[in-house]
Amino acid sequence: MLISLFSQELLFFTVVVPFVFVYLCYRSSSISKNTSAHATNWPIFHMLPALIVNLYNIHDCIAAVLAQNSQNTRIHLPGRRIFMTCDPANVRHIFTTNYTNFPKGMEFAAIFDIMDRTLFTIDGEPARRQRAKLQSVLSSPQLVASMAACCRNKLENGLLPFFTDMASTNAPFDMQEVISRFIFDLAAMPIFGVDPGLVSSDMLSVEVAMAMDTVMEVGFIRHMMPDFCWKAMRRLNIGPERKLHAAHTVLQGFIKNMIESKKIKGGCICNREEQQGVDILSSYVNDPDYSNDGLFRAMLGFMFAGRDTIGTILPWIFYNLAQNPNIVSVIRNELSPIASRKIGAGRGAIVIFEPEEIKSLVYLQATLFETLRLYPPAPFERKTVVADDIMPSGHKVKAGDTIFISVHSMGRMEDVWGKDCHDYNPYRWISEDNKLCYVPSHKFLSFNSGPRTCLGKDIAIMQMKTVVAAVLWNFDMEVVQGQSIQPKMSCILHMKNGLIVKLKKR
Ligand code: HEM
Repeated sequence: MLISLFSQELLFFTVVVPFVFVYLCYRSSSISKNTSAHATNWPIFHMLPALIVNLYNIHDCIAAVLAQNSQNTRIHLPGRRIFMTCDPANVRHIFTTNYTNFPKGMEFAAIFDIMDRTLFTIDGEPARRQRAKLQSVLSSPQLVASMAACCRNKLENGLLPFFTDMASTNAPFDMQEVISRFIFDLAAMPIFGVDPGLVSSDMLSVEVAMAMDTVMEVGFIRHMMPDFCWKAMRRLNIGPERKLHAAHTVLQGFIKNMIESKKIKGGCICNREEQQGVDILSSYVNDPDYSNDGLFRAMLGFMFAGRDTIGTILPWIFYNLAQNPNIVSVIRNELSPIASRKIGAGRGAIVIFEPEEIKSLVYLQATLFETLRLYPPAPFERKTVVADDIMPSGHKVKAGDTIFISVHSMGRMEDVWGKDCHDYNPYRWISEDNKLCYVPSHKFLSFNSGPRTCLGKDIAIMQMKTVVAAVLWNFDMEVVQGQSIQPKMSCILHMKNGLIVKLKKR
């Protein structure tokens, strides 16, 4: 009798609850936008119902809650105590001052099990060692130069010819998908020294890019769900866990193939003799600290770092610029003197700006930062508390608690950015003497803060500036009316329905 009761309960928690959760997650996007659950703390389920009802709009919902609660709140979910914050003082405490007390933790590593033992999931001394290695690789001037050359070549031979074709027919297309292909190539080339060719005339399948998206989408569900639920689903290989399992297989196959083909064929970035052997993989293959497995994991981590972030922010930049023609004019005015110095840059010709030429453009960079403030590609960070602590805001956290840091909310707080915090205004980044204002990373958290700050920030800025300058200078963009532009339920801020645009050659 007791055993049968126990197994019924087990069945309820391992099968029924996860199914209801996942069903509601998917359904929540179609629930009326007026629906709003009061965050009642129910027995057993605690605030899970409120969370599910608001999932369709989770980032804005969290921003509203944090704005009402002086940037800090507590959330109770089954089996978990969560402290949610976007308070810069707390962020500095968590990411810098008392950083060792707030690792990512084992649950985070379990959620991203495919990236197990990569820099993305590890803490402490192993993270410090991997980071040091990576820092030395990424600071190589040769590598940075070849990444710049890659970006330029892919623009010239991939993205801009495709855009020119689309402009000549005035046909609508999904800008997010094309950018995703372009950035996939751009991330893979410096890593493996091989061009996957996703932006090309035959537009190959994006199976691998889709597998990466699945990791981030199912990762989001795992973050929100009680952990015993998703672990049970993983064991039974059902629902999103089944999709994730298939994505893991695709990713493993891709990375292993790329490593093998690199080992067999050699290969170099952008097919230039002088750049032979400057790809990231070459810096790892002969390192005795990296076994085949270590190599696989390091390359996988790189793909996510480079591809997901830039690929996510560029569509938001283009979307915002399409709504703000005055901002586009200011950027074009900034580019104009450089364009006019270029040989053959007459009317109708395609112009590509070299990273060095646009490095010092303040307004263009301010526009990128303004978009990163409002649409950070990684909208939240998650940490675990090692020992009881008191936050600068006065909130107590206990060992084992989870902390969610809402990066998305921080960019939308009046107390942090002023009354116009929701306005898209690049000038907030520019001082009176026309220099970029310094904003500390615990207030502008899009590139993370403290000892785990993004290692690719400068490379990312260089690539984003090069792409945005080329697209804006050469094309007028119109966002097709009637679309619903909103973030996907994912650990990265992808647009849920893509971004359908039309282009016109200038
Ligand atoms: C717009 C572009 C980018 C943004 C917004 C961004 C943001 C971030 C964030 C938020 C993290 C912390 C992740 C976490 O620990 O949870 C991070 C880490 C990292 N990023 Fe970036 N990133 C960008 C581009 C890049 C690029 C292009 C590269 C590589 C060339 C790169 C390399 C890394 C690496 C290696 C780490 C791990 C650092 C560590 O854990 O110690 N990032 N980035």
